[in-house]
Amino acid sequence: FAPKLLQGKSILLTAGPTREAIDPVRYISNHSSGKMGFAIAAAAAAMGADVILVAGPVHLPTPSGVKRIDVESTQDMLSAVMQHVDTHDIFIGCAAVADYRIDQVAEDKIKKSAQDMQLALVRNPDILATVASHKPRPFTVGFAAETKDVEHYAKDKLIRKKLDMIAANDVSNPAQGFNTEQNALKVIWANGQQDLPTTDKQILAGQLLTLIADQLALLKDDK
Ligand code: C5P
Repeated sequence: FAPKLLQGKSILLTAGPTREAIDPVRYISNHSSGKMGFAIAAAAAAMGADVILVAGPVHLPTPSGVKRIDVESTQDMLSAVMQHVDTHDIFIGCAAVADYRIDQVAEDKIKKSAQDMQLALVRNPDILATVASHKPRPFTVGFAAETKDVEHYAKDKLIRKKLDMIAANDVSNPAQGFNTEQNALKVIWANGQQDLPTTDKQILAGQLLTLIADQLALLKDDK
């Protein structure tokens, strides 16, 4: 991909899972490896962009030329993102954000006694939708991991969260998505769409960033 395509652009992105504490030793989370987001961060830096990567807990090295901010919870990820949103041209939400958190995090380790227990959960803020409704906002790109009706749900998310672009993948296919080296994306924006067929996440990252750069250039021409 073109090494100078994103020269002078700044990109803020989220990657990996978030982790919600239950007590000092336990948490709820998901299987996101962070590979897609880290691949996008690496490709964006290689294409000349200034990159801030807000990462949940993952076992991946920081790509060269990328500034990394490590967070654990969804609320921490949101505040790290909102600190930088005003100074960035592009936001890409790759993180598999925990939709709920524990209502009352126990101060001490919970002891096992009763046969059953319930955890009360409360809804987490939507980081992507918060960025998309911020003014002025960056060119805002979301991801949609779906198991069926991929295009339908992705288009719904694009409109509902007021995004500029959405990259959808079918996670019912075990060769794609979570914790794999390869992925395929259906990328949809207001007046177009493109299928990016199965390939290494690094290559896909460059292809997605090229589509974003194209749309940004088009937006500029419109003004
Ligand atoms: O609604 P859904 O979780 O499927 O949307 C996925 C997209 O929204 C991803 O881009 C993800 O990073 C983002 N998201 C978010 N904050 C949430 C939930 C999802 O930024 N609380």
